[in-house]
Amino acid sequence: MGGRRSLRRAAFSPACLLFAVAVLLAMPGLTAARTRRYSFNVTMATVTRLCVTKSIPTVNGRFPGPKIAVREGDTVVIKVTNHINNNVTFHWHGIRQRRSGWADGPSYITQCPIRPGGSYVYRFTVTGQRGTLWWHAHFSWLRATLYGPLVILPPRGVAYPFPKPHREVPLMFGEWFNADPEAVIRQALQTGGGPNISDAYTFNGLPGPTYNCSANDTFKLRVKPGRTYMLRLINAALNDELFFAVANHTLTVVQSDANYVKPFAATTLVISPGQTMDVLLTAAANPSSQAFAIAIAPYTNTVGTFDNTTATAVLEYAAAAAPPRKAAALRGLPLPSLPAYNDTSVVANFTAKFRSLASAKYPARVPSTVDRNFFFAIGLGADPCQSPVNGTCQGPNNTRFAASINNVSFVMPKTSLLQAHYQRRYKGVLMANFPTAPQRPFNYTGTPPNNTFVTHGTRVVPLKFNTTVEVVLQDTSIQGAESHPLHLHGYDFFVVGTGFGNYDASNDTTRYNLVDPVQRNTISVPTAGWVAIRFVADNPGVWIMHCHFDVHLSWGLSMAWLVNDGPLPSQKLPPPPSDIPMCS
Ligand code: C2O
Repeated sequence: MGGRRSLRRAAFSPACLLFAVAVLLAMPGLTAARTRRYSFNVTMATVTRLCVTKSIPTVNGRFPGPKIAVREGDTVVIKVTNHINNNVTFHWHGIRQRRSGWADGPSYITQCPIRPGGSYVYRFTVTGQRGTLWWHAHFSWLRATLYGPLVILPPRGVAYPFPKPHREVPLMFGEWFNADPEAVIRQALQTGGGPNISDAYTFNGLPGPTYNCSANDTFKLRVKPGRTYMLRLINAALNDELFFAVANHTLTVVQSDANYVKPFAATTLVISPGQTMDVLLTAAANPSSQAFAIAIAPYTNTVGTFDNTTATAVLEYAAAAAPPRKAAALRGLPLPSLPAYNDTSVVANFTAKFRSLASAKYPARVPSTVDRNFFFAIGLGADPCQSPVNGTCQGPNNTRFAASINNVSFVMPKTSLLQAHYQRRYKGVLMANFPTAPQRPFNYTGTPPNNTFVTHGTRVVPLKFNTTVEVVLQDTSIQGAESHPLHLHGYDFFVVGTGFGNYDASNDTTRYNLVDPVQRNTISVPTAGWVAIRFVADNPGVWIMHCHFDVHLSWGLSMAWLVNDGPLPSQKLPPPPSDIPMCS
């Protein structure tokens, strides 16, 4: 009897309770990481915007595409089936893809395209990241309509380092073309001139009342007085950096590119294609109006043409007293004041505010020493008219437009670079001699040299595993100085320094921020300026780094890092999934 009683007592002892709780916690599906499965069926769908009805590539018939929502630690499995008459791949923009480079998605870099009728399963685990990212097609200009949010919540039970918002709303900025974007880039590459510009900017696919026929296609953000909302901003535009503002409201930036930042207030934001930003908006307790305009408009210094329109959405207060505004009345809402389209100083001031949280919980592990230094001059260039292409020469001075890094314009290979690397079959595919600095230095931000012709090649930088890399990205004034949003796949980098004019190693390095620099995956190289980034090459694979303006990417403004395996099994790239699409 006594023995049994003591046994029973033991079953309820604190130690046993703890054990039981631990067992429960470890049970999959309760709190542990999960596997989230998605089906992406790429299909054509009919959509009308600006009174133009056309058939566009979509995911599951939706435009913009479906939201992927996961928690940090989850594994994501997305089965893509291609039902359209075009090649396609998908990129999970900003996902670190640790040892899962096969799922990164840029066509001809980590995989060959998924052909019509084909399918491919992307599989990756989300570790060490939380916040807003996004997904988009990574073949030609298909991302014009194939994009959607990718939201990473902290693990269950882990709070944000800021007060929990009442509601969270993804807000994707896009660019709408009445024409088929594929025809637009095809024509530009044929003529050698600049591509036609878009017809509208959009909020979650909706252009809003500043455009023809679009008052009913207005995105509305409905809020309750006094509540705080988190807007997950994503710039999915093809070729335009954007200013963003909400009339009469100040925003607090708390996160960028799925990294927490030291919160700061701003009334006008700038966001480059590829970048994401989480901002808090507190609805007024006693709003002066029931509705306020939300606006986006381009920031650019291009000497070419650009879409100089403003798109609006509406911030609408729930107010029992006032009836909701009619569509026509939305047109009358006062716009928030936005800077001039070429106001680079507003952009520089805003960009300078980003700092890593750099807390005990979210430390900024900035490399303090560098193994290898790179200096990349990036910008536009030209091809001579007699270059062997089937096209005309409507670029500057009877040339054809090109773009380059260190005067190398990237040539897309015919096969996947990662596949070639895995099989160690480089011959005829790539050359591991990408220049670490310009071969002919010049006054990058001064008067451009007479000869602005570029060279062409599929050239990469090979890196030993765990190399600490610093890259200075220097804008050039060839065909006009303009900013370039540079995006690195497979890594987040620290932005340790920036400035205008030509980078000067002896003076500029002393002003680096090695304490709390922001960590991102996309940074805009300032107009006629430079930016210095650092990362540790601890993720084996082939990683493209490119301008996130699709037109510049099409013109060759990209390169790739080939990060070799490390000695340990955990430092090697695993074999490709069996269903990886082949090129031939
Ligand atoms: Cu969001 Cu290689 O791109």
